[in-house]
Amino acid sequence: MPLPKAELHLHIEGTLEPELAFALAARNGVALPYADTEELRRAYSFSDLQSFLDLYYALMAVLRTEQDFADLADAYLARAAGQGVRHAEIFFDPQAHTARGVPLDVVVEGLGRALDRSEERYGISTRLIMCFLRDESAESALETFEAARPHFGRITGIGLDSAEVGHPPAKFREVYRLAAEAGLHRVAHAGEEGPAAYITEALDVLGVERIDHGLRCLEDAELVERLVREQIPLTLCPLSNVRLRCIDTLADHPLPAMLEAGLLVTVNSDDPAYFGGYVDDNLRAVEEALRLDREQLRLLAANSFRASFLDEDRRAALLAEVAAYTFEPAGALTATA
Ligand code: ADE
Ligand code: ZN
Repeated sequence: MPLPKAELHLHIEGTLEPELAFALAARNGVALPYADTEELRRAYSFSDLQSFLDLYYALMAVLRTEQDFADLADAYLARAAGQGVRHAEIFFDPQAHTARGVPLDVVVEGLGRALDRSEERYGISTRLIMCFLRDESAESALETFEAARPHFGRITGIGLDSAEVGHPPAKFREVYRLAAEAGLHRVAHAGEEGPAAYITEALDVLGVERIDHGLRCLEDAELVERLVREQIPLTLCPLSNVRLRCIDTLADHPLPAMLEAGLLVTVNSDDPAYFGGYVDDNLRAVEEALRLDREQLRLLAANSFRASFLDEDRRAALLAEVAAYTFEPAGALTATA
């Protein structure tokens, strides 16, 4: 049984495995420019964020109906359960679907169908976070926000993703102001490829409660001090960082230094179908590459619940599970019988 954890940085479209992509393509009569799943997998070699995004958006062509979105989310939740996920805050990219003629209602209702059954089926509580594409206009984000209002009972937060450099957070000041007014949570990708200044801007101008990635905060000592002081969570995605060449190898990942500095960091999978692993795979990979000990793993799991938007009762219950967790196989941390 893996360590109980929350996943806080997960793009549902990034969980589209090649097998499901081909199944949905057949169901919807969509032609894919790949002969088979093997050929598609071979395309998963990225030079940077944009080269990944090009494939990520192209493959979404197979997602058309409510059932497609329900199947996508259900497949993720089933896998996540096997990885010890007890709570998932799931991103989706509405503009990537409405731009293809798929109505927002289809996306939200489809995802909602799977999410509604998640606690009962998989023991995973969920939240849905609507992300705006930062390489689209501020007006498009505002239109999307207004169109989503009827779904604010189901959508609990907003985020900002897609191509970062050249699209600073301040561009989205107005939609974040409206989201705060509507009582929604606010997060944003910042400091993945973009500079540390984008992290500061996301905090100061957008009022975000969490930073997605935040890797480049380390370039600004004052910012690190602030993130530690205010305990602002960073949702790190180590396998993503290597695949998108934000860092050279996992052994170069600054996660241990970030923990050491007292930053509230969490480990997540970002787009697991594309980056070689789900959330527990990410944890195991950093455990090995960075020689993390069990108490560091326990801290990362506890941080994931601390950084979540869970209600306090469930947060406390899940933190208690983390504290009581016994690592397997029974070793140094297990009392000898
Ligand atoms: N959309 C999906 N994955 C993303 C990432 N890692 N960064 C920015 N936008 C994304
Ligand atoms: Zn992301």
